[in-house]
Amino acid sequence: MGKRLGILISGRGSNFLAIADAISAGRLDAEIAVVISNNPSAAGLEVARSKGLATSTIPSERGMKREEYDERLTEELNRHNVDLIVLAGFMRILSGKFVNRFRGRILNIHPSLLPSFPGLDVHAAALQYGVKVSGCTVHFVDEGLDSGPIIRQASVPVEGNDTEESLAARILEQEHRIYAEAIALVLSGQYKIEGRRVVPVLAKPAP
Ligand code: GRF
Repeated sequence: MGKRLGILISGRGSNFLAIADAISAGRLDAEIAVVISNNPSAAGLEVARSKGLATSTIPSERGMKREEYDERLTEELNRHNVDLIVLAGFMRILSGKFVNRFRGRILNIHPSLLPSFPGLDVHAAALQYGVKVSGCTVHFVDEGLDSGPIIRQASVPVEGNDTEESLAARILEQEHRIYAEAIALVLSGQYKIEGRRVVPVLAKPAP
């Protein structure tokens, strides 16, 4: 049995779908234990249901403290015995307590070459700055914003006639490729973290 993923989404869920496809194609040895959304109308939830996956919605209620929300999230993840938490377009900041509890077991994907352009409106920021190369980053989640150790990155060219939409689409293709690869590396355990560097280590040969 593969390790159990808890996938957190807020919207479309194309990264979730790419991960599900990688599992079905045998490129990723894992199973999706649950897909959780803070947004009841996230399109990705429908896709997950249509695939017969367990889903759950935890809406952020008015006045609810971040830690309280994260407690509910924790209960749900534990109920499904999740080994690795995969943020895939999850539009909430996680509390320090939550990050600490699951340290080293939360991944995020961000549509820029970090540390450039963390946060929101990333493609607009990249175009406005005038970079000629952009891309995406899979990283461990720490207490900062898009700041944890980097597991994988992929770059794409920025073309002179790019719009936010065209750049986003070019980057998304790479996101779909590298997220499954990064998850596979983390689940294999064949890496170590030295400072900020995630360094692959080879498996010991069988005796
Ligand atoms: C992706 O661009 C991801 O990098 C960012 O949010 C977007 C989510 O897209 N964090 P999707 O819901 O996976 O299609």
